Amino acid sequence: MFEVVSNEILAENLHKMVLVAPRIAKARKAGQFVMVRLAQGEERIPLTIGDADPAAGTITLFIQAIGASTRKIVSTPVGGFIRDVAGPLGKETHITNWGRVVCVGGGVGTAVLFPLVKALAEAGNEITTIIGGRSERYVILADELGALSKNLLITTEDGSLGYKGFVTGPLSEMIADPARAPQAVFAVGPVPMMKAVANLTREPGIETIVSLNPIMIDGTGMCGGCRVQVGTETKFACVDGPEFDAHLVDFDGLSDRLTSYRKEEAARHAAEGC
Ligand code: NAD
Ligand code: FES
Repeated sequence: MFEVVSNEILAENLHKMVLVAPRIAKARKAGQFVMVRLAQGEERIPLTIGDADPAAGTITLFIQAIGASTRKIVSTPVGGFIRDVAGPLGKETHITNWGRVVCVGGGVGTAVLFPLVKALAEAGNEITTIIGGRSERYVILADELGALSKNLLITTEDGSLGYKGFVTGPLSEMIADPARAPQAVFAVGPVPMMKAVANLTREPGIETIVSLNPIMIDGTGMCGGCRVQVGTETKFACVDGPEFDAHLVDFDGLSDRLTSYRKEEAARHAAEGC
């Protein structure tokens, strides 16, 4: 059993939860995730380990409450318990000192970006972080990411904060300017955003890494639920990823798979009244 020691609302439907999980806190590396199951018989949910404090024996999870299972998890109060937290799973992020790096976070994907920015900053990279949301209230972790980055650029689609438009706006301006063009780009967010970032960096040949969130069931490479086409190979995001070379990912195939169970999910939400 894993005790909840803090549960904070960061934005609409987005919680930051801190759990006691000493072994995971000690072993985890940036980019890895855990499979969380609230109680016996509940759905397993893959969640990126947002941060960890090995001395305190805690891990931080950023959880978007979008379905029945995630709503139940975020409603666990401080002092309550989560039955299963399995991990750390997945490959750690390949971190090196590229020099100038741009980290792009779209909406809730910004939470997954946070541990990558932290690890890249610790490796001495000069980081520009670009984060965006539909409006100001969907922009998350700006202070935390600003503290780790040389520059923080914010975009909102309605112009309520920062640049008006998508995160790809400031990124394309940077790529076009030789004095600001990055050596590497990390992008985490909705599939159309990651595809758009890959399209911007492909021609100039800028190394680009995306973190994917396909449907996961077991998280151990057994079920094949998280398969994704990367170049000529079929990869399992849970054991081969979740990070991949953006220029090789079949984003259209990933979109199709992510929407294949919409009808069943809607029926389940209706049955569970959420
Ligand atoms: P959203 O749709 O509100 O988009 C957030 C931002 O992403 C936008 O404001 C924009 O700046 C950028 N963006 C979106 N579409 C774009 C496009 N076509 N071109 C350029 N930029 C674009 O996102 P949200 O509702 O906060 O996030 C939900 C989505 O994020 C879900 O689809 C979820 O599956 C995905 N997600 C992905 C990860 C991951 O690990 N990759 C993690 C969490 C959530
Ligand atoms: Fe089952 Fe990856 S989640 S193979």
